[in-house]
Amino acid sequence: MDSQDVKDDLEEVLFTSEQIQARTKELAEAIDRDYADKDVLIVGVLKGAVMVMADLSRALKSQIAMDWMAVSSYGSGTKSSGVVRILKDLDADLMNRHVLIVEDIIDSGLTLSWLKANLESRGPASVEICTLLRKPEAAKVSIDVKYVGFDIPNKFVVGYGLDFAEKYRNLDCIGILAPHVYE
Ligand code: IMP
Ligand code: MG
Repeated sequence: MDSQDVKDDLEEVLFTSEQIQARTKELAEAIDRDYADKDVLIVGVLKGAVMVMADLSRALKSQIAMDWMAVSSYGSGTKSSGVVRILKDLDADLMNRHVLIVEDIIDSGLTLSWLKANLESRGPASVEICTLLRKPEAAKVSIDVKYVGFDIPNKFVVGYGLDFAEKYRNLDCIGILAPHVYE
């Protein structure tokens, strides 16, 4: 679906699908360059990062392996609970591998700082983070994010994998959800 299909639910379109694709290509070029000659495992965080993983992985020129993890930090609301649970763990062994976590969004940074520490405890050669979106709060947390697509305002956004109560993930752009939808 596109922004016209949900126009009453969006306050504003932040990034069109073309803008997302263009930025994804730039991130992929940086990753290709930084990981040249390295064995990389990209880890997608379900479910939000599905679209980012699909497009970022295809924009990469190098051979990579892909794995998935599911964690939960939010219920169906719009505020972080601060509690992280592993719903699905990785299949891959991380020992001596270069791991790149791929996320849709970093808000408080709680999920990612927990996840990074968790993966670092498994003996990898390195663990880095790539996120398509980052909110201002996250910039205050001391977590080192190597690749950021866009810094965005502190608003609840949906689309391109990001949901509100499991809806809007299949929206092709990223938009600010109108408050009347969740208030
Ligand atoms: P954090 O722990 O606060 O950084 O939250 C990270 C997770 O919360 C993300 O992986 C998303 O699933 C979810 N999240 C945070 N902000 C938004 C948003 O604006 N829209 C949709 N989901 C969000
Ligand atoms: Mg979510």
